[in-house]
Amino acid sequence: MNTNAFALRHIGPRENDQQLMLETIGIDSLDQLIYETIPDDIRLKNNLDLDEPMTEHEYLLHIHELSKKNKAYKTYIGLGYHPTILPAVIQRNILENPGWYTAYTPYQAEIAQGRLEALLNFQTMVIELTGMEIANASLLDESTAAAEAMSLLFAVRSRDQKKAGINKFFVSEDVLPQTLSLLQTRALPIGIELVIGKESEFDFSQEFFGALLQYPGKHGQVTDIKSFIEKANSNNIKVAVAADILSLVKLEAPGKFGADVVVGTTQRFGIPMGYGGPHAAYFATKEAYKRDIPGRIIGVTKDVDDNRALRMALQTREQHIKRDKATSNICTAQVLLAVMASMYAVYHGPKGLKFIANSVHSKTVALEKALNDLGYEQENTSYFDTLLIKAKAKTIKKIATKKKVNFYYPDKETVTISINETTSIRDLNYIVSVFAEAADKKTIKINDIKERNNIDNNLQRNSSFLTSEVFNTYHSETELMRYIKFLERKDLALNQSMISLGSCTMKLNAASEMLPLSFFKWANIHPFVPAKQAKGYLTVLKELEDQLTEITGFAATSLQPNSGAQGEFAGLMVIKAYHESRGDHHRNICLIPSSAHGTNPASAVMAGMKVVVTKSTEKGNIDVDDLREKAELHKDNLSCLMVTYPSTHGVYESAIKEITKIIHDNGGQVYMDGANMNAQVGLTNPGQIGADVCHLNLHKTFAIPHGGGGPGVGPICVAKQLVPFLPGNPVVKTGGKKAISAISGAPFGSSLVCLISYGYIKMLGAEGLTESTKIAILNANYIKKRLEGSFDTLYSGERGRAAHEMIVDCRPFKANGIEVSDIAKRLMDYGFHAPTVSFPVAGTLMIEPTESESKAELDRFCDAMISIKNEIDSVSKDEPNNVLKNAPHTLEMITANEWDLPYTREKAAFPLNYVKNNKFWPSVRRVDDAFGDRNLVCSCTPIEDYIEA
Ligand SMILES: Cc1ncc(COP(=O)(O)O)c(C=O)c1O
Repeated sequence: MNTNAFALRHIGPRENDQQLMLETIGIDSLDQLIYETIPDDIRLKNNLDLDEPMTEHEYLLHIHELSKKNKAYKTYIGLGYHPTILPAVIQRNILENPGWYTAYTPYQAEIAQGRLEALLNFQTMVIELTGMEIANASLLDESTAAAEAMSLLFAVRSRDQKKAGINKFFVSEDVLPQTLSLLQTRALPIGIELVIGKESEFDFSQEFFGALLQYPGKHGQVTDIKSFIEKANSNNIKVAVAADILSLVKLEAPGKFGADVVVGTTQRFGIPMGYGGPHAAYFATKEAYKRDIPGRIIGVTKDVDDNRALRMALQTREQHIKRDKATSNICTAQVLLAVMASMYAVYHGPKGLKFIANSVHSKTVALEKALNDLGYEQENTSYFDTLLIKAKAKTIKKIATKKKVNFYYPDKETVTISINETTSIRDLNYIVSVFAEAADKKTIKINDIKERNNIDNNLQRNSSFLTSEVFNTYHSETELMRYIKFLERKDLALNQSMISLGSCTMKLNAASEMLPLSFFKWANIHPFVPAKQAKGYLTVLKELEDQLTEITGFAATSLQPNSGAQGEFAGLMVIKAYHESRGDHHRNICLIPSSAHGTNPASAVMAGMKVVVTKSTEKGNIDVDDLREKAELHKDNLSCLMVTYPSTHGVYESAIKEITKIIHDNGGQVYMDGANMNAQVGLTNPGQIGADVCHLNLHKTFAIPHGGGGPGVGPICVAKQLVPFLPGNPVVKTGGKKAISAISGAPFGSSLVCLISYGYIKMLGAEGLTESTKIAILNANYIKKRLEGSFDTLYSGERGRAAHEMIVDCRPFKANGIEVSDIAKRLMDYGFHAPTVSFPVAGTLMIEPTESESKAELDRFCDAMISIKNEIDSVSKDEPNNVLKNAPHTLEMITANEWDLPYTREKAAFPLNYVKNNKFWPSVRRVDDAFGDRNLVCSCTPIEDYIEA
């Protein structure tokens, strides 16, 4: 046996453990278990056609070699992506630290205070730099954030505007091309008409409800957004501004001019370009629109002891509740990147940021002067970091490419140059030498940079920013390292214990998959460089597309969507384009089973579809008769069905082929939500069950870490008839022949983290992938068996087996006064993160162990659950002062001089022996959600300001 095989590192249970687990389940072999679990008619007959697996060592050599095919030229392309300096202390302690990158979205606030605080810092940073009242904890990229701004402004139109059907949205032609493309994708389905034009020629007519400006514009001009916003506001037109965050250090905050929404990317705050992402976008707006903000907002509240505590605020606005009433489908965002960007601001502080922004600006001014001296004209009258030079683009491009320099060439007569924080005087002189050669002149030398200014007086920043203590304290490496550690220790991540969140697939994110993210030639490639400079990336991305196409049994893949929910939207838009190409413009009914994840109906509505919900049977399966009836009823207008497989109830429904046939027979397409793909890989696939398109969550099934709530990648894989419509990009050709417009800003979405999934598949190979699926099913069935007698599993397959996850019923415990949330909080005292609470069935826990957890860890978890069940049996409704209701217990509580609870301290904090060896302390007691929602505070504010007297 090759003990270095990656499969042995990725998969938890050892061979002898697997045998013991099968014995517990009462079955002879793994193959028999799979046979009893997955319906025979959907099983694959052949093995996946993938390369032989590499060991970790071989893979690291391979990926290093491939990186050399990327050419990391000096790049001044701009357009929303810039070279940056990621402080090593942040790289090592966050990006490369599983304590940060393996955490999940902070649903369990008591064991997530660290990342919640980092995200509150992010929001504070955004609020202060934009001058707005409220900000969220990141979105997917600048372009999607701009589209969300448009949707929000549409949703908050005045009653009169709604009544009059006002639907025009003005977009400045200075907006980034990728943003414009994305606005086009998002506007039409929800009935918005885009009008693109020059800001200076806009007539502010009453027909418009909103406008989007770019600040500075795509070619660097800083326009007078102040007077535009004033005029717009007085004409009842709301304004969104897409602003470069670094420029805001020098430019007055758009909020000071009355902007309604400000969006942008925080990539410039130390995040590598990574050939397009992942980067955290920001979204800031007015307090008045807080209920319509997309994504998550972190808010301040208190715990039961009145200590300050943080949690995700206003959760009621999540798609789970709003479903088809939601105006956005953001679930996974870009938390890890938001944390990194916030730490960049913490590390540099206001003084450091001013130094960086001044230096970038002054270097740009010095460059302008040198180019002027060479006889070139620069057209931007006011700018931050970008020059617009009149020059023969072809000539400059030839020389620049020879000298390994990238500029942007908007047309034949123009070159733009965007300066960044990595640009040195030497680099400036090198740029000048390119232009000198083109002009056939002797070059001019810039010797030093004096602080200079070329920003209009009325747009220069006067307001202060980053005044809170956190941005003025941690400026030495030791201090920042300890601050990061201080926060990390408050969070329970995979490096502490299993996180069995159902539907989330918290498997191993192997170090060897993660390491290449830090390699220079993967990190530092701009997404719009010529293909010749990105051969390494193009090789990996093409191969990953092919691997995913093979795994799903489809014809092609697009990696562009940067979350599962964006994948849903992309897939539905592709279906829509397909129907339209056949003249079926009216096909707009989307059938969705009642058990679907909330993003499904939200995505369908965003794609302009009408949602019709189909029923589930008592056993949790799709009610086939109801589905047939509805499909037939709507057959003339049926667009598609969205179905999750195996179902969100953790079952491989045996009627799936019949279901997909019903949809096809009635003219619809089948969209499969691939969140549960971990239960399919190598054994069955969406092509086999009769689907036409699926999204995958690479941040679940294919090992991208969840990062505390992102990054994610949600590629779509499609059948032959849908290939022509795969999404494109306006700058770099991607997608199908009749590509729909962009779904994400970058041509291949979050390319940098695609390396992780590529490595995962390369190292596991066909056999390791299939084995992983089998063990995921084994682990789930082992837990199911061990919990029998303590917890009832709600749904099972026809032969009584669970899929890769199961739902356990906690509703009967209400008789003892115990809610499912009490169990979730009590699990923290045992050192575990709760499984998914109340999805898809209220009052239940959905447990998904994944293949990476060993038998020993599964046993600890089961012991904890059984022990909790015994505790439930010993409490009564009439005595709520008990160990479950008081959970979680903090160190402060346990070590206090006073202890008047009716159970021992040992029972509270060390309920089982294993806990003594590896105690994890929640940093706050139970968090009061309602208090925080009544007193919404979403930035760093002193405690006294919000605790009621
Ligand atoms: C079944 C299902 N569909 C869709 C999604 C949305 O995926 P994402 O969070 O990547 O947007 C999830 C996320 O948890 C899910 O569980």
